[in-house]
Amino acid sequence: MTCPSIKQALDLFDEGLAVMRKEQPRFAFYCEKSFRSHCCLVACCAEMIASRIDNIDGQKAYILGLLHDYGKMMRDADNKEYFHGLTGYNEMNRLGYDEVARVCLTHTFPDKDFKYTEYSYPEMRKTKKLLAQVDYDDYDRLIQLCDLLVVGMNFSKIKDRMIFVKDKYRVSTMVIKRRYRQALRLKNYFDRRCGCNIYRLLGIN
Ligand SMILES: [Fe+2]
Repeated sequence: MTCPSIKQALDLFDEGLAVMRKEQPRFAFYCEKSFRSHCCLVACCAEMIASRIDNIDGQKAYILGLLHDYGKMMRDADNKEYFHGLTGYNEMNRLGYDEVARVCLTHTFPDKDFKYTEYSYPEMRKTKKLLAQVDYDDYDRLIQLCDLLVVGMNFSKIKDRMIFVKDKYRVSTMVIKRRYRQALRLKNYFDRRCGCNIYRLLGIN
């Protein structure tokens, strides 16, 4: 399993942003600041939680958090033909960073057993097949959780993230409720591992 160094990860992030500016100038113009903040906050969140847990390396957690949405920089982020997780997975594998590739793929799915119809991307069948071959570890779970704890440019409660996802992707109430329960299980797991409430650790009211 291979992960980039912190310097390589920061360079990859900058290079990805340069690709985004070139290939998706509209997206970059309107969304670059919030996208950068999102990735950096997920990275910081992952490092903070990791600092409380034995056997999770803080720097590796930061790197995985920073690059989890790498696929969004490589292809039109609003194009529903492509799933950014799979794009990131393919790109990171091509670069030889299979640990990042894996998190690009897994970070969206606390529950691997989702229904294709819950997502509008045609690439979901392939994604689900790949996910079936992965046994989630604490890095997968950590980035899944941290992605749920960031809304806009702030750390937020999972409930706020669910409202954001429901509105942005027009997800049904039933599906959102199920995802919310799964997300809370994930949070409870890390609360126990950290020995404190993650919301308190991150200063979320
Ligand atoms: Fe994300």
